[in-house]
Amino acid sequence: MIIRRRGPGLPDFPWDSLADHAAKARTHPGGVVDLSVGTPVDPVPAVIQAALSSVADVPGYPTTHGTPELRAAVVAAVERRYGVTGLAPEAVLPTIGSKELVAWLPTLLGVGPGDVVAVPSVAYPTYEVGALMAGATVVRLADGEPPPAGTKLVWLNSPSNPTGRVLSAEQLRAAVAAAREVGAVVASDECYLSLPWGSSPVSVLHPSVVDSFDGVLAVHSLSKSSSLAGYRAGFVAGDPELVAGLLELRKHAGMIVPRPVQEAMRAALEDDEHVAEQRARYLARREVLKPALEAAGFTVSHSEAGLYLWSTRGEDAWETISWLADRGILAAPGTFYGPEGERHVRIALTASDERVAAAVERLRA
Ligand SMILES: Cc1ncc(COP(=O)(O)O)c(C=O)c1O
Repeated sequence: MIIRRRGPGLPDFPWDSLADHAAKARTHPGGVVDLSVGTPVDPVPAVIQAALSSVADVPGYPTTHGTPELRAAVVAAVERRYGVTGLAPEAVLPTIGSKELVAWLPTLLGVGPGDVVAVPSVAYPTYEVGALMAGATVVRLADGEPPPAGTKLVWLNSPSNPTGRVLSAEQLRAAVAAAREVGAVVASDECYLSLPWGSSPVSVLHPSVVDSFDGVLAVHSLSKSSSLAGYRAGFVAGDPELVAGLLELRKHAGMIVPRPVQEAMRAALEDDEHVAEQRARYLARREVLKPALEAAGFTVSHSEAGLYLWSTRGEDAWETISWLADRGILAAPGTFYGPEGERHVRIALTASDERVAAAVERLRA
């Protein structure tokens, strides 16, 4: 049997290489504290669960474009929460979580061999995977570095996974201008926008960044803001022509968000209270974990928003991973996100209060 792929092979799935350290961490008498992945652990808000089950009895196919009510809820939520104005409901498209959109976007946009996809120097690995799946070439851009000629897609990610770095409106504006200069589409992954810690992250669609949505897409996820990773709920919005093109292809390919999930998304987007509550939970965990790491000799870089503490002990990332595993704590080495991450580890805030307290105790011992 042959599984054909265009272009060079994909990298090994990074988390597989953590297996030995995970095994060691699991032997800790107090159990493992797994801070290696950003998977939500808190309950799905009741208002969302109720919306999901309210349309459990819908036997027909859902629409790929999403219900009008869902798209209206997206338009209203991005205006209310992030000050984005002028977004038409037609220019909104629900996605099956955002990871599939990230992985397929280059292919759906027609990017292919000979084209370049630009990603941040330290970045969520799926940007690279999606470019490789399309057979394109990946370049990692340093801060403020313009994309080279031949670039067809530029990924931005503010607040960043893994660094928690936030780009200012001015930096985003410059990045959009540089992408437009070479005729590239800008896709801004904004899945951590609702989790600022004293910083002020801004959407790429905000009027302080763009005058028009031409060539610009914002990619959103409800996984983190609404603890909905299990539902697979996201959306892409922005340039109406690009969104129409994506819709057409996704209709052909059956990339459809299930109807109950569409309803759950609508409810989640209409309610800001649970988003604030979830943020407060992560803030409380951050407020104990960050000082405990610092007291244990770590320096936490950036991390001014989002779900991660981008931390270093000034040594090779794998040494730090081993040091943490000795204490029953599992983190992700910065090398998962690019060569520049070689001296950092990414420590997630996505564990229960009890597990975070256990980590704090072990770091202080
Ligand atoms: C930067 C970034 N983009 C996208 C995703 C994918 O999220 P989901 O597929 O759950 O929407 C993640 C998940 O951790 C992420 O960190």
